[in-house]
Amino acid sequence: MYECRIAGTGRYVPERILSNKDLEEMVDTSDEWIIQRTGIRERHIAAEDESTSDLALQAARSALEQAGLGPLDLDAIILATLTPDTYCPAGACYVQKLLGAENACAFDLSAACTGFVYGITVGSSLVRSGVHSNVLVIGAETLSRVIDYSDRNTCILFGDGAGAAVLSRAEEGSESRLLDHYLRSDGSGADLIIMPGGGSRQPASVDTVEAKQHFLSMQGSDVFKFATRSMQVLIETAIERNGISISDLDLVVPHQVNSRIIDTVLRKIDLPEEKIYLNLQRYGNTSAASVPMALHEAAEEGRIEPGNLVLLVAFGAGLTWGYNLVRW
Ligand code: UT7
Repeated sequence: MYECRIAGTGRYVPERILSNKDLEEMVDTSDEWIIQRTGIRERHIAAEDESTSDLALQAARSALEQAGLGPLDLDAIILATLTPDTYCPAGACYVQKLLGAENACAFDLSAACTGFVYGITVGSSLVRSGVHSNVLVIGAETLSRVIDYSDRNTCILFGDGAGAAVLSRAEEGSESRLLDHYLRSDGSGADLIIMPGGGSRQPASVDTVEAKQHFLSMQGSDVFKFATRSMQVLIETAIERNGISISDLDLVVPHQVNSRIIDTVLRKIDLPEEKIYLNLQRYGNTSAASVPMALHEAAEEGRIEPGNLVLLVAFGAGLTWGYNLVRW
């Protein structure tokens, strides 16, 4: 077995901003309610001619640049998304073409908001086993394409964006490496966050369009409870499985979903606020893109130093949840 490390990260958000004030014009809500209940102030929305692969491409280029690698060095591209350009072929294939990564295989990974954490686990397994040397893992979403902007339960939460990480074989003796991964799922919660139309169960039809079944629907308060519980369990599991204490963690980068979820977890475990990275106020919930976008920004802002112990934590539709423990 080889060791695997994160060699570079990247991030991209589309230009257009949708503020809470803008949403006040669209649904019965208020800037005050959204900030109080979620912490979100604005989110970015893809331009009409931008699709998920376009966002993914920009994040991928910046991650490759940071890693000091070119597209031809890549052996695999894993795109975690619930909003691929098309269901067939995989969105990752468009990214492969746009990047010019001619030596890479490319496939999508569907684990909703946990997608990037799943992707890092799969990608690092490919590197650790020696199958591949450099794997690009991207979390990218154009959620604005599947949001019903007349549904105030969902439209205030979600935004578009992309984040990426290059995984490379770590040199022998390198401290920087991925230490542990933990993934779980529970399909009995499938209905809590769902886009029911368009799959083999309910193929696209005039009826599914009229019934708004191609939009994301969510049972907010049940998901809130699941998110709070799973975030706490993930942090506690990471500590237990790795024989560390909570004070050993330098930074926790959680799925950026709702500041109240984070606050609730902080109250339950003894983790100081400064050890959590949050940027949801600027981007909202970008599903699979949220953890890599936050990871990139945290590193850029100097919140992560070489040698730091960083925990990536995510949870979402499926239900799915998981973590990656990283020595930076
Ligand atoms: O990444 C996928 C995971 N997704 C999540 O983790 C989302 C988790 N859930 C949440 O973040 C929260 O449940 C929401 C932000 C979606 C909702 O907040 P809440 O505190 O759970 O509100 P609620 O659904 O219990 O609704 C409270 C009240 C209701 O009014 P009544 O029935 O008390 O009169 C809602 O109709 O707030 C109302 N409401 C709103 N009011 C203004 C719901 N949405 C809005 C809104 N603006 N946008």
